[in-house]
Amino acid sequence: IPVDRFDLVIFGGTGDLARRKILPGLYRRFCAGQMPDGARIIGAARSDLDRGAFQDMVRDAITEFGTGAPCEGATLDDFLETLDYMRVDARGEDGWDALKDMLRDDSDVVRAFYFSVGPGLFGDIAARLQSHGLATEDSRVVVEKPFGRDLGSARALNADLAQHFREDQIYRIDHYLGKETVQNLMAVRFGNVLFEPLWNAQFVDHIQITVAETVSVEGRGAYYDKSGAMRDMVQNHLMQLLCLIAMEPPSRFDPDAVRDEKLKVIRALAPVEPHHIVRGQYEAGGGVASYRDHAENPKSFTESFIALRCHIENWRWAGVPFYLRTGKRMKARMSEITVVFKPTRHSIFDIGEGEDVHSNMLHIRLQPNEGMTLDVTIKEPGPGGMRLVTVPLDMTFSEALGPEAEDVPDAYERLIMDVIRGNQTLFMRGDEVEAAWAWTDPIIAGWEARADVPKPYEPGSSGPEDALMLMHRDGRRWREIKA
Ligand code: BG6
Repeated sequence: IPVDRFDLVIFGGTGDLARRKILPGLYRRFCAGQMPDGARIIGAARSDLDRGAFQDMVRDAITEFGTGAPCEGATLDDFLETLDYMRVDARGEDGWDALKDMLRDDSDVVRAFYFSVGPGLFGDIAARLQSHGLATEDSRVVVEKPFGRDLGSARALNADLAQHFREDQIYRIDHYLGKETVQNLMAVRFGNVLFEPLWNAQFVDHIQITVAETVSVEGRGAYYDKSGAMRDMVQNHLMQLLCLIAMEPPSRFDPDAVRDEKLKVIRALAPVEPHHIVRGQYEAGGGVASYRDHAENPKSFTESFIALRCHIENWRWAGVPFYLRTGKRMKARMSEITVVFKPTRHSIFDIGEGEDVHSNMLHIRLQPNEGMTLDVTIKEPGPGGMRLVTVPLDMTFSEALGPEAEDVPDAYERLIMDVIRGNQTLFMRGDEVEAAWAWTDPIIAGWEARADVPKPYEPGSSGPEDALMLMHRDGRRWREIKA
């Protein structure tokens, strides 16, 4: 769907996120012909740059971080022409009036402000957008995670933004929601008749969500050490996955209908028992330093891995455990959700001694190699009687969809275009973020009160042994983490 003409101001326009994701993403949309004539992108930051220097910076960023098909029918120079730059002081009054003069006073031009800066500046920027008259009735603001570090700070941020903008103007990014396969969770669940009747405690034994990464925290230890996997990944990305996999069908695919259902899931989460959580911290290995070295904190108790078991206390999921895990420096990069169904109610086939009872499992691969596998039970071929074997019904989305699936927009591209379109479905509402912190806070407070020490784990592994035990104790096992 084409988007309207827009003026997009990126605060923090010279920062890491802008250079790595936002600007290369916008360039890709430009190449795909999705940016209308008259679209303008204005970098705003403290650096004393002029337009030409900003264009040079963006050229370098796109050369370094740009991905995807080469631009057809347009050049990088054409894209750079859409750019402008203004030096502004977020905490002072400099630059704001000049920035205002750059914006077009035309109700047909969408006005959006992207806060690609730390949350400490959200309030300052929002206030100056108002006091200098840059904010209009319809302008949109985009804010990045981390959206606070606990319930109190998230509430304060929401309150700061709410002083100047209505909720329908605020776009809180969780980039996982912009991933193609994450949205596919909704398509699979609500676009097929096959799954939804079985998607409940009657038929589901448990659900696993794994987001394993191979990267370390090198280079961002200062931020990460104050956050840990719980704040960095679970409170937002894993929570969103949990919501999409567990929520009730919304009545419509519209922003509030979807977000209402997600909110109900978060609010129904039971507090997590301390013995249902395993925290880990990677050691040195494979020529790479340890977590504590990367964090430059030899006594750090911050977790770079977490596995936990939680429960959603509602009718649909009563008694069904959800196992979540995520970590850095793991064996492979693999994000996957597995729904493990219960065995058939009554087996008419003999199960050999020591053989597993066969269960259907649905594996949804979020990244890489996006696709789905359904494990089904069939007869093992041969004359030896009725012996059962489980085989995969396997589908890789790119193979199934053909070449069109190759060049799908990356999460940031999609989300920015949704901001311009004014579609909030894939953005978090303020109450959702607060509810997620309300669930996370007591868990973190418990660790702090107990001075909980994370378990060391070998880099390139599946996390600490205790994480495996978390499942084994329940007579279950994790999916193997593999590339
Ligand atoms: C970010 C986290 O939000 O998500 C990072 O801060 C993490 O720690 C990243 O590495 C993972 O995103 P992706 O898209 O690479 O799975």
